[in-house]
Amino acid sequence: MEKTVKPVKRIEGSLRVPSDKSVSHRSIILPSLAEGESVIKNFLKAGDTLTTLNVYRKLGVDIEEKDNVIYVKGKGLEGLKEPDDVLDMGNSGTTTRLTLGVLAGQNFFATLTGDDSLRKRPMKRVVDPLSEMGAKVDGRKEANNLPISIRGGKLKGISYFNSKMSAQVKSAILLAGLYAETPTEVVEPIVSRDHTEKMLNWMGANIEIDFMTDGYKVKISKTDRLKPIHINVPADPSSAAFFAAAASIVPKSEIILKDVMVNPTRDGFFRKLKEMGADIEYKNKRDEAGEIVADVIVKYNDLKGVKVVKEEVPSMIDELPLLAIVATQAEGETVITGAEELRVKESDRIKAIVENFKRLNLEIEELEDGMVIKGKQKVKGGVVDSYKDHRIAMGFAILGLVSEDGITIKDADCVYISYPDFFKHLEKVSK
Ligand code: S3P
Repeated sequence: MEKTVKPVKRIEGSLRVPSDKSVSHRSIILPSLAEGESVIKNFLKAGDTLTTLNVYRKLGVDIEEKDNVIYVKGKGLEGLKEPDDVLDMGNSGTTTRLTLGVLAGQNFFATLTGDDSLRKRPMKRVVDPLSEMGAKVDGRKEANNLPISIRGGKLKGISYFNSKMSAQVKSAILLAGLYAETPTEVVEPIVSRDHTEKMLNWMGANIEIDFMTDGYKVKISKTDRLKPIHINVPADPSSAAFFAAAASIVPKSEIILKDVMVNPTRDGFFRKLKEMGADIEYKNKRDEAGEIVADVIVKYNDLKGVKVVKEEVPSMIDELPLLAIVATQAEGETVITGAEELRVKESDRIKAIVENFKRLNLEIEELEDGMVIKGKQKVKGGVVDSYKDHRIAMGFAILGLVSEDGITIKDADCVYISYPDFFKHLEKVSK
């Protein structure tokens, strides 16, 4: 499906964007291992998270939905069953990597595959530590690419330095650590999203979280049982970011984004946007099941270019393509570095941004680990490719709002992965 986004006069209104993708994945995976029934309200029903739901059903977990509430009847840490067939992970890196961590502790065999994008994404980052812990793993390209087969079993703990600051890698190791005979430690130079360890702690795992002066450490030890939980999933800051960006670059705009999770490991984009000069206000801040949630009000303001460095990347990793798009409307240059991880997301997101900017005659310099974006550019419009990557499709839709003739996005239906109603919502707040 192709979608054209035309220029608008302003962005105005109020939205509750869909629920957080990272928390929704974990609200199926972790409760599947608990003893008893967990209740999940506001679960994100989108491509990636429905993949997780289907995978855990195939692993023998009874997951039901009634009146928009999901009930996960946990099987206990040892209760999953060997799947009858290959598990399809669709487009979802999170499902794949976290599930490999879970399967490392199971005494059975499973094979995982995925779509064209996922089969290209690097898996050695989880395969290596899980193999070191004792899981038997093999797959294409020396076990770096799906399909990957795993036979779990007796594990031992490891000490792992998460140099890529990948929350998926950290989570996979911690989940395997629940089963290891000796303690497992993950150290990060900068804390990556911390939903897994928070949820494990809440469910009664043997876990210690330590904010050190020069980094972050999580230690997990063999756990006999996890308690079921009740979760109300807040709105996804990564989805809210698109509308915060829209209100910041379209003159006279004002938007209210409701129930947004403002976890500091996730809100880097909002902080950076503020640094650029954006008018952002947080109202009604509250604690909901261990996460801070707020209504975020964003009004149009003049923006200036900024720098993004490696230490800032983890808390805004998924929003960097959008930041590059916003930067075209700011005064002065924006320089993003230390973001080489963007090359191994649902698409090579540096290449996707650079090639689409060229299609739109916009100035950008490609760096191995980022990009340099010229400010105050006039966007005439044209046709771009989403590379079947949801965040690229939504980012260029936002740029379309400030274009002269509109931007047409190829393969725009990929927004289904995290935000099925994205274009409907965009229309609702476009004036
Ligand atoms: C995620 C972690 C991040 C992020 C992805 C979701 C998660 O990936 O980009 O969209 O839910 O753990 P990495 O762990 O590869 O940085």
